Amino acid sequence: MMNTSAEMRQKLDALRGKETVRILALESSCDETACAIIENGRRILSSVIFSQVDVHALYGGVVPEIASRAHVDACDRVIDQALKEAGMDFAQIDALAVTYGPGLVGALLTGVSCMKGLSYTTRLPLVSVNHIEGHVSANFLTHPDLEPPFVCLVVSGGHTHLVRVNNYGEYTLLGQTVDDAAGEAFDKAARVLGLNYPGGPLLSKLAEGGNDSYLPLPHAHLDGRYDFSFSGLKTAFLNACHRMEQRGEILPRADLAASFERAVTDALCEKAMLALEDSGLHTLCLAGGVSANRRLRARMQALARERGFRLCMPELWLCTDNAAMIGSAAYYRLRRGEWAGLELNAVPALELV
Ligand code: KG4
Ligand code: ZN
Repeated sequence: MMNTSAEMRQKLDALRGKETVRILALESSCDETACAIIENGRRILSSVIFSQVDVHALYGGVVPEIASRAHVDACDRVIDQALKEAGMDFAQIDALAVTYGPGLVGALLTGVSCMKGLSYTTRLPLVSVNHIEGHVSANFLTHPDLEPPFVCLVVSGGHTHLVRVNNYGEYTLLGQTVDDAAGEAFDKAARVLGLNYPGGPLLSKLAEGGNDSYLPLPHAHLDGRYDFSFSGLKTAFLNACHRMEQRGEILPRADLAASFERAVTDALCEKAMLALEDSGLHTLCLAGGVSANRRLRARMQALARERGFRLCMPELWLCTDNAAMIGSAAYYRLRRGEWAGLELNAVPALELV
Protein backbone atom coordinates (compact mmCIF):
# COMPACT_ATOMS: atom_id res chain seq x y z
CA MET A 1 0.00 0.00 0.00
CA MET A 2 1.26 3.52 -0.84
CA ASN A 3 1.90 6.16 1.80
CA THR A 4 -1.21 8.21 1.13
CA SER A 5 -1.42 11.96 1.58
CA ALA A 6 -4.27 11.51 4.07
CA GLU A 7 -2.21 9.11 6.17
CA MET A 8 0.80 11.47 6.15
CA ARG A 9 -1.29 14.52 6.95
CA GLN A 10 -2.71 12.72 9.97
CA LYS A 11 0.80 11.84 11.12
CA LEU A 12 1.98 15.42 10.68
CA ASP A 13 -0.98 16.74 12.70
CA ALA A 14 -0.08 14.32 15.50
CA LEU A 15 3.56 15.49 15.38
CA ARG A 16 2.52 19.12 15.74
CA GLY A 17 1.33 18.50 19.28
CA LYS A 18 4.31 16.37 20.21
CA GLU A 19 6.86 17.78 22.64
CA THR A 20 9.83 15.82 21.31
CA VAL A 21 10.29 15.31 17.59
CA ARG A 22 13.16 13.12 16.45
CA ILE A 23 14.28 13.18 12.85
CA LEU A 24 16.64 10.72 11.17
CA ALA A 25 18.40 12.58 8.36
CA LEU A 26 20.56 11.39 5.46
CA GLU A 27 23.04 13.47 3.45
CA SER A 28 24.62 12.20 0.21
CA SER A 29 24.94 15.23 -2.08
CA CYS A 30 28.69 15.02 -2.76
CA ASP A 31 31.42 12.84 -1.27
CA GLU A 32 30.19 12.27 2.26
CA THR A 33 27.54 9.71 3.22
CA ALA A 34 26.16 10.88 6.54
CA CYS A 35 23.29 10.08 8.86
CA ALA A 36 22.20 11.82 12.07
CA ILE A 37 19.35 11.78 14.56
CA ILE A 38 18.28 15.25 15.71
CA GLU A 39 15.82 16.17 18.44
CA ASN A 40 13.66 19.28 18.04
CA GLY A 41 16.03 20.72 15.43
CA ARG A 42 18.70 21.54 18.00
CA ARG A 43 20.02 18.48 19.80
CA ILE A 44 22.31 15.93 18.16
CA LEU A 45 21.49 12.43 19.43
CA SER A 46 23.90 10.79 17.00
CA SER A 47 25.88 11.69 13.91
CA VAL A 48 27.83 9.45 11.56
CA ILE A 49 29.90 10.70 8.63
CA PHE A 50 31.48 8.35 6.15
CA SER A 51 33.91 10.34 4.02
CA GLN A 52 34.93 9.12 0.57
CA VAL A 53 37.71 11.69 0.35
CA ASP A 54 40.52 9.09 0.26
CA VAL A 55 39.05 7.42 -2.84
CA HIS A 56 38.55 10.70 -4.72
CA ALA A 57 41.98 12.04 -3.69
CA LEU A 58 43.50 9.39 -5.99
CA TYR A 59 41.90 11.26 -8.92
CA GLY A 60 42.45 14.82 -7.65
CA GLY A 61 38.71 15.55 -7.28
CA VAL A 62 35.29 13.99 -6.85
CA VAL A 63 34.50 11.37 -9.51
CA PRO A 64 30.67 11.38 -9.69
CA GLU A 65 30.25 7.72 -10.71
CA ILE A 66 32.51 6.54 -7.89
CA ALA A 67 30.66 8.79 -5.44
CA SER A 68 27.26 7.29 -6.37
CA ARG A 69 28.53 3.73 -5.96
CA ALA A 70 30.17 4.51 -2.64
CA HIS A 71 26.91 6.08 -1.38
CA VAL A 72 24.99 2.94 -2.35
CA ASP A 73 27.45 0.89 -0.28
CA ALA A 74 27.42 3.25 2.70
CA CYS A 75 23.77 4.40 3.08
CA ASP A 76 22.51 1.36 5.05
CA ARG A 77 25.59 1.28 7.21
CA VAL A 78 25.49 4.94 8.28
CA ILE A 79 21.76 4.65 9.06
CA ASP A 80 22.30 1.52 11.21
CA GLN A 81 25.22 3.17 12.94
CA ALA A 82 23.31 6.39 13.69
CA LEU A 83 20.45 4.37 15.25
CA LYS A 84 22.92 2.29 17.22
CA GLU A 85 24.81 5.32 18.55
CA ALA A 86 21.55 6.93 19.68
CA GLY A 87 20.41 3.62 21.20
CA MET A 88 17.20 3.75 19.17
CA ASP A 89 15.17 1.94 16.57
CA PHE A 90 12.65 3.31 14.08
CA ALA A 91 9.87 3.16 16.69
CA GLN A 92 11.50 6.15 18.41
CA ILE A 93 11.90 8.16 15.21
CA ASP A 94 9.13 10.58 14.18
CA ALA A 95 10.22 11.58 10.67
CA LEU A 96 12.88 11.08 8.02
CA ALA A 97 14.80 13.72 6.09
CA VAL A 98 17.01 13.71 3.03
CA THR A 99 19.04 16.21 0.98
CA TYR A 100 17.46 16.47 -2.50
CA GLY A 101 19.74 19.20 -3.97
CA PRO A 102 21.94 20.91 -4.94
CA GLY A 103 24.70 18.40 -5.65
CA LEU A 104 25.75 15.56 -7.92
CA VAL A 105 22.68 13.95 -9.46
CA GLY A 106 23.76 10.35 -8.94
CA ALA A 107 24.88 10.99 -5.38
CA LEU A 108 21.63 12.78 -4.52
CA LEU A 109 19.50 10.07 -6.17
CA THR A 110 21.13 7.40 -4.03
CA GLY A 111 20.10 9.15 -0.81
CA VAL A 112 16.66 10.15 -2.08
CA SER A 113 15.85 6.61 -3.26
CA CYS A 114 17.11 5.09 -0.02
CA MET A 115 14.99 7.41 2.13
CA LYS A 116 11.89 7.03 -0.04
CA GLY A 117 12.22 3.28 0.46
CA LEU A 118 12.56 3.78 4.21
CA SER A 119 9.57 6.11 4.32
CA TYR A 120 7.52 3.53 2.42
CA THR A 121 8.43 0.67 4.74
CA THR A 122 8.45 2.53 8.09
CA ARG A 123 5.47 4.75 7.11
CA LEU A 124 7.31 7.74 8.57
CA PRO A 125 6.87 11.13 6.87
CA LEU A 126 9.81 12.21 4.69
CA VAL A 127 11.06 15.81 4.57
CA SER A 128 13.19 17.01 1.64
CA VAL A 129 15.98 19.46 2.50
CA ASN A 130 18.03 21.94 0.46
CA HIS A 131 21.71 21.26 1.20
CA ILE A 132 22.50 24.99 1.48
CA GLU A 133 19.66 25.48 3.96
CA GLY A 134 21.28 22.62 5.85
CA HIS A 135 24.58 24.53 6.02
CA VAL A 136 22.77 27.62 7.37
CA SER A 137 20.98 25.43 9.96
CA ALA A 138 24.27 24.03 11.31
CA ASN A 139 24.29 27.29 13.29
CA PHE A 140 21.11 26.25 15.17
CA LEU A 141 22.96 23.18 16.45
CA THR A 142 25.97 25.12 17.73
CA HIS A 143 23.99 28.11 19.07
CA PRO A 144 20.82 26.86 20.78
CA ASP A 145 19.48 30.38 21.38
CA LEU A 146 20.01 31.63 17.80
CA GLU A 147 16.78 32.73 16.11
CA PRO A 148 16.15 34.51 12.79
CA PRO A 149 16.38 37.17 11.53
CA PHE A 150 20.10 37.28 10.80
CA VAL A 151 22.49 37.72 7.88
CA CYS A 152 24.32 34.59 6.74
CA LEU A 153 27.43 34.24 4.62
CA VAL A 154 27.25 30.83 2.94
CA VAL A 155 30.63 29.74 1.60
CA SER A 156 30.97 26.20 0.32
CA GLY A 157 32.59 24.32 -2.55
CA GLY A 158 29.81 25.23 -4.97
CA HIS A 159 28.15 28.32 -3.44
CA THR A 160 29.02 31.76 -2.19
CA HIS A 161 25.89 33.59 -1.06
CA LEU A 162 25.01 36.41 1.26
CA VAL A 163 21.45 35.91 2.47
CA ARG A 164 19.09 37.52 4.92
CA VAL A 165 17.43 34.75 6.91
CA ASN A 166 14.05 36.36 7.60
CA ASN A 167 12.57 33.37 9.37
CA TYR A 168 13.09 29.60 9.44
CA GLY A 169 13.18 28.53 5.80
CA GLU A 170 12.63 32.10 4.47
CA TYR A 171 15.50 33.82 2.72
CA THR A 172 16.22 36.97 0.78
CA LEU A 173 19.23 36.73 -1.51
CA LEU A 174 21.46 39.79 -0.96
CA GLY A 175 24.43 38.83 -3.12
CA GLN A 176 26.35 35.95 -4.61
CA THR A 177 29.45 35.12 -6.60
CA VAL A 178 29.31 36.11 -10.24
CA ASP A 179 31.82 33.37 -11.14
CA ASP A 180 33.68 30.88 -8.91
CA ALA A 181 32.57 29.86 -5.43
CA ALA A 182 35.04 30.64 -2.64
CA GLY A 183 35.70 26.93 -1.96
CA GLU A 184 36.23 26.27 -5.65
CA ALA A 185 38.80 29.11 -5.80
CA PHE A 186 40.59 27.66 -2.77
CA ASP A 187 40.67 24.21 -4.41
CA LYS A 188 42.04 25.57 -7.71
CA ALA A 189 44.75 27.66 -6.03
CA ALA A 190 45.69 24.64 -3.91
CA ARG A 191 46.17 22.51 -7.01
CA VAL A 192 48.73 24.97 -8.43
CA LEU A 193 50.62 24.73 -5.16
CA GLY A 194 50.77 20.94 -5.61
CA LEU A 195 48.19 20.17 -2.92
CA ASN A 196 45.74 17.32 -3.28
CA TYR A 197 41.94 17.34 -3.05
CA PRO A 198 40.24 18.87 -1.10
CA GLY A 199 42.68 21.73 -1.34
CA GLY A 200 41.01 24.35 0.88
CA PRO A 201 42.02 22.95 4.27
CA LEU A 202 45.49 21.97 3.01
CA LEU A 203 46.12 25.43 1.54
CA SER A 204 45.02 26.98 4.82
CA LYS A 205 47.44 24.78 6.76
CA LEU A 206 50.28 25.71 4.39
CA ALA A 207 49.42 29.41 4.78
CA GLU A 208 49.96 29.33 8.54
CA GLY A 209 53.65 30.27 8.47
CA GLY A 210 53.45 32.41 5.31
CA ASN A 211 53.75 36.12 4.60
CA ASP A 212 50.27 37.24 3.52
CA SER A 213 51.59 40.42 1.83
CA TYR A 214 53.99 38.52 -0.43
CA LEU A 215 51.79 38.60 -3.54
CA PRO A 216 49.42 41.54 -4.09
CA LEU A 217 46.23 40.26 -5.73
CA PRO A 218 43.51 42.24 -7.55
CA HIS A 219 40.41 43.42 -5.76
CA ALA A 220 37.20 42.89 -7.78
CA HIS A 221 34.89 45.87 -8.30
CA LEU A 222 31.37 44.73 -9.03
CA ASP A 223 28.05 46.36 -9.79
CA GLY A 224 26.23 44.25 -7.23
CA ARG A 225 26.91 45.81 -3.82
CA TYR A 226 26.99 42.41 -2.10
CA ASP A 227 28.31 40.30 -4.98
CA PHE A 228 31.62 38.46 -5.07
CA SER A 229 34.05 37.56 -7.85
CA PHE A 230 36.96 35.20 -7.38
CA SER A 231 37.96 34.37 -10.95
CA GLY A 232 40.18 37.46 -11.53
CA LEU A 233 41.96 36.85 -8.27
CA LYS A 234 42.37 33.17 -9.08
CA THR A 235 43.72 33.86 -12.58
CA ALA A 236 46.21 36.45 -11.26
CA PHE A 237 47.36 33.89 -8.69
CA LEU A 238 47.74 31.09 -11.26
CA ASN A 239 49.62 33.38 -13.67
CA ALA A 240 52.02 34.55 -10.94
CA CYS A 241 52.77 30.92 -9.99
CA HIS A 242 53.27 29.84 -13.60
CA ARG A 243 55.58 32.78 -14.29
CA MET A 244 57.76 31.84 -11.31
CA GLU A 245 57.85 28.22 -12.45
CA GLN A 246 58.84 29.27 -15.98
CA ARG A 247 61.71 31.31 -14.56
CA GLY A 248 62.84 28.18 -12.71
CA GLU A 249 62.17 29.75 -9.32
CA ILE A 250 61.18 27.67 -6.34
CA LEU A 251 57.67 28.70 -5.34
CA PRO A 252 57.48 30.32 -1.91
CA ARG A 253 54.44 28.11 -1.31
CA ALA A 254 53.57 29.24 2.22
CA ASP A 255 53.76 32.95 1.24
CA LEU A 256 51.65 32.34 -1.85
CA ALA A 257 49.06 30.35 0.12
CA ALA A 258 48.88 33.06 2.79
CA SER A 259 48.50 35.83 0.16
CA PHE A 260 45.70 33.95 -1.57
CA GLU A 261 43.89 33.10 1.65
CA ARG A 262 44.09 36.73 2.74
CA ALA A 263 42.68 38.04 -0.55
CA VAL A 264 39.70 35.65 -0.45
CA THR A 265 38.89 36.13 3.22
CA ASP A 266 39.25 39.94 2.96
CA ALA A 267 36.70 39.97 0.12
CA LEU A 268 34.31 37.77 2.10
CA CYS A 269 34.62 39.95 5.21
CA GLU A 270 34.18 43.20 3.31
CA LYS A 271 30.91 42.19 1.63
CA ALA A 272 29.54 40.50 4.74
CA MET A 273 30.14 43.70 6.73
CA LEU A 274 28.40 45.83 4.10
CA ALA A 275 25.38 43.51 4.07
CA LEU A 276 25.15 43.30 7.84
CA GLU A 277 25.43 47.06 8.34
CA ASP A 278 22.87 47.86 5.63
CA SER A 279 20.45 45.26 7.03
CA GLY A 280 20.24 46.92 10.42
CA LEU A 281 20.53 43.46 12.01
CA HIS A 282 23.02 42.59 14.71
CA THR A 283 23.78 38.93 14.04
CA LEU A 284 25.99 37.48 11.35
CA CYS A 285 26.26 33.72 10.78
CA LEU A 286 28.82 31.86 8.70
CA ALA A 287 28.02 28.56 6.99
CA GLY A 288 29.51 26.01 4.59
CA GLY A 289 32.87 24.28 4.24
CA VAL A 290 34.92 27.48 3.88
CA SER A 291 33.55 28.74 7.21
CA ALA A 292 35.93 26.18 8.76
CA ASN A 293 38.79 28.39 7.53
CA ARG A 294 40.83 29.59 10.50
CA ARG A 295 41.73 32.96 9.03
CA LEU A 296 38.15 33.74 8.04
CA ARG A 297 36.89 32.83 11.52
CA ALA A 298 39.59 34.88 13.27
CA ARG A 299 39.09 37.93 11.03
CA MET A 300 35.32 37.83 11.50
CA GLN A 301 35.74 37.44 15.25
CA ALA A 302 37.97 40.53 15.35
CA LEU A 303 35.39 42.50 13.34
CA ALA A 304 32.58 41.34 15.65
CA ARG A 305 34.53 42.58 18.68
CA GLU A 306 35.36 45.88 16.99
CA ARG A 307 31.87 46.60 15.69
CA GLY A 308 29.81 44.95 18.40
CA PHE A 309 27.69 42.47 16.42
CA ARG A 310 26.99 38.85 17.34
CA LEU A 311 28.94 36.35 15.25
CA CYS A 312 27.73 32.75 15.04
CA MET A 313 29.75 30.03 13.36
CA PRO A 314 29.08 26.29 13.38
CA GLU A 315 31.51 24.14 15.33
CA LEU A 316 34.31 23.12 12.96
CA TRP A 317 32.98 19.64 12.19
CA LEU A 318 29.53 21.06 11.42
CA CYS A 319 30.91 23.48 8.80
CA THR A 320 31.64 20.76 6.26
CA ASP A 321 29.08 18.25 4.97
CA ASN A 322 27.17 16.32 7.63
CA ALA A 323 23.63 15.04 8.21
CA ALA A 324 23.02 16.78 11.55
CA MET A 325 22.48 20.10 9.74
CA ILE A 326 19.97 18.39 7.42
CA GLY A 327 18.03 17.09 10.44
CA SER A 328 17.91 20.59 11.93
CA ALA A 329 16.64 22.21 8.73
CA ALA A 330 14.07 19.39 8.33
CA TYR A 331 12.60 20.06 11.77
CA TYR A 332 11.67 23.62 10.86
CA ARG A 333 10.25 22.53 7.48
CA LEU A 334 8.18 19.88 9.25
CA ARG A 335 6.92 22.46 11.74
CA ARG A 336 5.59 24.44 8.79
CA GLY A 337 3.70 21.34 7.65
CA GLU A 338 6.05 20.64 4.74
CA TRP A 339 6.83 17.09 3.68
CA ALA A 340 7.69 15.24 0.49
CA GLY A 341 5.69 12.48 -1.17
CA LEU A 342 7.18 9.40 -2.76
CA GLU A 343 7.35 11.30 -6.07
CA LEU A 344 10.33 13.26 -4.64
CA ASN A 345 13.21 13.57 -7.10
CA ALA A 346 16.77 14.87 -6.88
CA VAL A 347 17.27 18.47 -8.09
CA PRO A 348 21.02 18.90 -8.82
CA ALA A 349 20.81 22.67 -9.49
CA LEU A 350 18.40 23.50 -6.66
CA GLU A 351 18.63 27.14 -5.53
CA LEU A 352 18.16 28.44 -1.98
CA VAL A 353 16.14 31.44 -3.16
O1 KG4 B 1 30.29 22.75 2.34
P1 KG4 B 1 31.28 21.78 1.83
O2 KG4 B 1 31.78 20.72 2.78
O3 KG4 B 1 30.74 21.06 0.57
C1 KG4 B 1 29.94 21.72 -0.36
O4 KG4 B 1 28.70 21.80 -0.11
O5 KG4 B 1 30.52 22.23 -1.34
O6 KG4 B 1 32.50 22.67 1.31
C2 KG4 B 1 33.63 22.10 0.73
C3 KG4 B 1 34.55 23.22 0.34
C4 KG4 B 1 35.77 22.73 -0.43
O7 KG4 B 1 35.95 23.61 -1.53
C5 KG4 B 1 36.89 22.85 0.57
O8 KG4 B 1 38.15 23.07 -0.02
C6 KG4 B 1 36.45 24.04 1.39
O9 KG4 B 1 35.05 23.88 1.52
N1 KG4 B 1 37.06 24.08 2.72
C7 KG4 B 1 37.95 25.01 3.11
C8 KG4 B 1 38.34 24.66 4.44
N2 KG4 B 1 37.67 23.53 4.79
C9 KG4 B 1 36.90 23.19 3.72
N3 KG4 B 1 38.45 26.08 2.49
C10 KG4 B 1 39.32 26.85 3.14
N4 KG4 B 1 39.76 26.57 4.40
C11 KG4 B 1 39.29 25.51 5.07
N5 KG4 B 1 39.73 25.25 6.30
ZN1 ZN C 1 28.09 21.29 1.60
